Amino acid sequence: MAWTQLPSSVEVVEVGPRDGLQNESTPLAAATKIELVDRLGAAGLRAIEAAAFVSPRWVPQMADGAAVLGGIRRLPGVCYSALVPNERGMEAALAAGVQEVVVFSAASESFAQRNINCSIAESIRRFEPVAQRARAAGVRVRGSVSCALGCPYEGAVAPAAVADVVRRMEQLGCDSVDIADTIGVGTPGAVQAVFEAAAAVLPMARLAGHFHDTYGQALANVLAALELGVRSFHASVAGLGGCPYARGATGNLATEDLLYMLHGLGIATGVDLQAVVDCGEFISRAVGRASTSRAARALLAARAHASAPGASH
Ligand code: HMG
Ligand code: MG
Repeated sequence: MAWTQLPSSVEVVEVGPRDGLQNESTPLAAATKIELVDRLGAAGLRAIEAAAFVSPRWVPQMADGAAVLGGIRRLPGVCYSALVPNERGMEAALAAGVQEVVVFSAASESFAQRNINCSIAESIRRFEPVAQRARAAGVRVRGSVSCALGCPYEGAVAPAAVADVVRRMEQLGCDSVDIADTIGVGTPGAVQAVFEAAAAVLPMARLAGHFHDTYGQALANVLAALELGVRSFHASVAGLGGCPYARGATGNLATEDLLYMLHGLGIATGVDLQAVVDCGEFISRAVGRASTSRAARALLAARAHASAPGASH
């Protein structure tokens, strides 16, 4: 079967330095985070979520966002974004020279309460001045809708509930909105239903897929969304991540796995997969944990085999 609906290129948004590292309990030095962001940019990633300006009491690992954004070597054409929960975070993000802010709410009330300590409606009210400041400063605003395919506290989430939050984010002035499967429970049919509902509010070209791989469905979900016309996908190097307020949720789809599939389909990303494998090795050593990326492990095994004495080339 030919994949006639597939595009010639897609955007890969690297969220490892934020979504990935926020879940690590061992404090990492800002210098390590800076080196990770720099390596990812050098590998060709053009959208990197580099930091969060949230309460350090809530997410201690993200307390050094200003140092990270201040220390990176900014490459032309790369958009460095940061998560912002309120006006205070917005001020700090602007002072640190952010190029895009991510405002985040949820499709389930229970998750919004656990993650940002307020209702969905209150979160949107908090984001109004944030979006205004962003517009005045010429900074892009991206919205993220957590628990779009299921909630750890409420279970199933209706596509209409997701579309409702997308609509509120569109009214805020978000340039684009992420449909996030925070706990990785979605399957391809459910993903298509959610994107179809969301696209009735915001064009598919302004939606992105943010899939966690808890149930091993993330790549299938990317393909399902690609078929519908989604052209932007989030991933985390080495499959780092999880959300501190979604127990049991594993990391994001690994960037290496996403790139391997996209390149195999002939879809250009502008990213050097082997260089991302090296980034994954770097950060896996720093956090003291093996990469969960199947493609990275296979590529590293192939490298080791190729460089073994007596290997034929
Ligand atoms: P709160 O406790 O309701 O609010 O937190 P507060 O105003 O009472 O603030 C609590 C403390 O934080 C105070 O400090 C504030 O000053 C301080 P204290 O006086 O107690 O020492 N504070 C801040 N400090 C720094 N920067 C700020 C800031 N704001 C307040 N911006 C709040 C409400 C929203 C702040 C809190 O709940 C919070 O920060 N939540 C963020 C949680 C988070 O980052 N979760 C993970 C990211 S979401 C995610 O991963 C999902 C996503 O990847 C998509 C997906 O996969 O679903 C996006
Ligand atoms: Mg996430």
